[in-house]
Amino acid sequence: MTAIDPRPSVIEERLSGVKRVIAVTGWKGGIGKSVTASTLALLLARKGYKTGLFDLDFAGASDHLILGAKGLFPKEEKGLEPPVHEGVKFMSVVFFSENKAVPLRGANVSDAIIELLAITQWGELDFLVLDMPPGINDAALDVMRFARKAEVLAVTIPSVLAHDVLNRSLELYRKLKVPVLGVLENMAARPGPGKLRRDPALEKALGSPKALLKTRFAEDLAREAARAGLC
Ligand SMILES: Nc1ncnc2c1ncn2[C@@H]1O[C@H](COP(=O)(O)OP(=O)(O)O)[C@@H](O)[C@H]1O
Ligand SMILES: [Mg+2]
Repeated sequence: MTAIDPRPSVIEERLSGVKRVIAVTGWKGGIGKSVTASTLALLLARKGYKTGLFDLDFAGASDHLILGAKGLFPKEEKGLEPPVHEGVKFMSVVFFSENKAVPLRGANVSDAIIELLAITQWGELDFLVLDMPPGINDAALDVMRFARKAEVLAVTIPSVLAHDVLNRSLELYRKLKVPVLGVLENMAARPGPGKLRRDPALEKALGSPKALLKTRFAEDLAREAARAGLC
């Protein structure tokens, strides 16, 4: 007899009170996925939406640094209850790695992410923003498979190479029937539809939600979130 994997239905149940799951994805590291996911969660919370943020990037979790979230830890209560920071329910793989590099690979990363999705109690949320692992590897695909409600917000940068990988990943999402809300071209030289400007002030604002929300980057992202029909 083959064992039935109970996790998909557990995750479905866990996410049953979440109206929309927004997976912020991108082809590689260093292109702005985390600043986008973190700032988007702040913007949505400021608009009055019940918002959660889950940093799933085992290789380089950084949302806690971007949001200046220090000394937080989930409460163990029939699973894990995320702490609230700046109005955002916040979970991160960093809570379980104590800032050390996690020696997990491939299937183990997938398993750890799926386990965390299965035990986290989000309760009622309008939006859960997922800061995805880079690329379209096993871990990223498993999140899409298990969090069936996920809609993709893809981040890219102005580069021919980035666009090539982006097009391939969009093709894959089409095949998997994962809705794509939009593509954000980050680090753009000029403002425009679908673009997030390169903002020299962003680096200094990291760690302070208040300062982050005042950046041109946040201004552009707010406009793009509205264009994507999020708020
Ligand atoms: N639009 C932007 N303008 C200026 N710096 C940016 C911009 N987007 C991202 N950065 C910077 O680039 C670095 C990588 O961003 P991050 O969000 O961590 O990327 P990823 O999550 O894709 O690895 C960070 O130091 C961030 O502050
Ligand atoms: Mg990141």
